[in-house]
Amino acid sequence: MEYYTDERGILYDKVKYHTRKKHAFLKGYLDIWVERVRHNPPTLDIFDLYASTGLCYCEEAKKTGLPEVIWDGSAIIAAKALSRYSKGRLLFLNSYNTVEKMRKSQINNLIALLRGLDFKKSSILISSPIEDAVTEASKHIDPRYPSLWILDPCAASDLPWNIVEKIGNMRATYDYNGEMRIRKPELIISLMTEDLQRFVDIRPDIISSSLGMNEEIWRPKYEELRGGGLNTREAMIELYAEKLSELYEKPPILAAEINITNESAIAYCILLLTDSPAGHYIAKLKLLPEFKQWEITEWRLNARQITAELKRDPAQKTLF
Ligand SMILES: C[S@@+](CC[C@H](N)C(=O)[O-])C[C@H]1O[C@@H](n2cnc3c(N)ncnc32)[C@H](O)[C@@H]1O
Repeated sequence: MEYYTDERGILYDKVKYHTRKKHAFLKGYLDIWVERVRHNPPTLDIFDLYASTGLCYCEEAKKTGLPEVIWDGSAIIAAKALSRYSKGRLLFLNSYNTVEKMRKSQINNLIALLRGLDFKKSSILISSPIEDAVTEASKHIDPRYPSLWILDPCAASDLPWNIVEKIGNMRATYDYNGEMRIRKPELIISLMTEDLQRFVDIRPDIISSSLGMNEEIWRPKYEELRGGGLNTREAMIELYAEKLSELYEKPPILAAEINITNESAIAYCILLLTDSPAGHYIAKLKLLPEFKQWEITEWRLNARQITAELKRDPAQKTLF
């Protein structure tokens, strides 16, 4: 990751054009929370575990026709959404860097940005490798209430499956109009498909760690999916989506596939897992069509997955 510093000393992640799409999705999804969850709103906590500097700077913006050179990164998008949401409770930011000097700079940057926003909700800022960050975050979640977790690593190896599993299992029962339900955290995951494609033969250990499966388990499934006509990227998404479906008893929404500027290659995709049926339907019906302006393609669920999904929830039939 490279950084840009402006004349005030504020730090920005130097990003490519395609990052804009990721942030458009995140903002769009949080807008749903802020604007649509009006009736008797629950509290909301946001955990951004790969928070970085909070801002983006895109050198190639003009060349690629983007309207702005700088924009908010995930931490500041989350902070602004929580400020606007009446029941916003906690903003938990983990901004880690392997270079110690950068860890301090990133945290100081986030502190300055939150102060600049006059952020009034509770906030916790830490700088830890992901394993420690999840342990710390688990002390602050109230699993009875909604929480949104942003898992946006730079590389597939930075997000092992056991992290996703730990977060997905931070659950509690809650009373929904007299009916007891299980609350699961909402997840937004950047799945680094380009890495998974690249490593499938040369670093199978990274695939095993990302998918949380030994190679003897994932390799035959992968070969079967490839034999069924999926390319490597699609097969990897399928395997990951299956794992998430097992964990959540609901398949993820493939919210966006992010292309690298001027290339057809897809760098990563964004998966959304929401426990709330309303969030699930609204994201599919409302957000994704609006999102077309960013040339986002929806995941073409393959026959196996559609069948599995319909078996679980026949009411979703009309959505495909
Ligand atoms: C893609 S950037 C995140 C960008 C940010 N989410 C945004 O949208 O503005 C990934 C961040 O994760 C950090 N990182 C790398 N390895 C990590 C690890 N093992 N644990 C936690 N963070 C890590 C990187 O230093 C970088 O700041």
